[in-house]
Amino acid sequence: MKCDVLTLFPEVLEAYLNESILKRACEKDLLETRLYNIRDFATGPHRTVDDSPYGGGAGMVFKPEPLFSALDFLRDDGEPRKVILLSPQGRPFNQATAEDYSRETRRFVFICGRYEGVDERVMTLVDEEVSIGDYVITGGELAALVIIDAVTRLVPGALGDEKSAEEDSFSRGLLDYPHYTRPREFRGMKVPEVLFSGNHRQIYLWRRREALRKTVEMRPDLIEKFDLSDTDKKLLKEIEEEKV
Ligand code: ADE
Repeated sequence: MKCDVLTLFPEVLEAYLNESILKRACEKDLLETRLYNIRDFATGPHRTVDDSPYGGGAGMVFKPEPLFSALDFLRDDGEPRKVILLSPQGRPFNQATAEDYSRETRRFVFICGRYEGVDERVMTLVDEEVSIGDYVITGGELAALVIIDAVTRLVPGALGDEKSAEEDSFSRGLLDYPHYTRPREFRGMKVPEVLFSGNHRQIYLWRRREALRKTVEMRPDLIEKFDLSDTDKKLLKEIEEEKV
């Protein structure tokens, strides 16, 4: 994944990009991020990037000029780009979007909005407006990081253990099963016996049952969309029967 990020707070992104899996992905050239401060594209003695809204009302609006200048600058190298505006008005980002983006050959541009929003004319620069959820955060920086992180995990070679991304809960359409590690007993809480059995089929069935249980409990909407196998149906029936 290659991306340019337009933000007023490059340090916020830099801190997260310089740790753990994303840092390693950068070192392995699987992720390339260039951070640009939008203020560097603003003109005038104060390099102002926001202004009050026409028509009145509270808050400030991102001015169009710095963002148009930034895009002109980026596009100068002729590389094809997909421009994403992060905003709560956008299309919801999910694992399917992450998978689409991981196959994208164009370079991404993430515009991290702030204030009440961006001047509507900026939309002429934007290919997609994307939201990370139905809540409002202070700016698009965290949203850009969420997307970069979720997409990078899907780039082959980015995770140490190749199986991990496939096993991520949303990749399988169900929530994850519970995990345990040493010690075998902690403050009276025991690890389920089946996990020591060495019986792979039994362990698979236990994990599958617990993943179904968690999904039914926390996200029944996912179960409705999920293509249940005969084994899944049997396990769900067992879960139902336990309740009575
Ligand atoms: N900026 C503010 N809230 C946001 C959200 N939910 N998603 C993306 N960008 C945002």
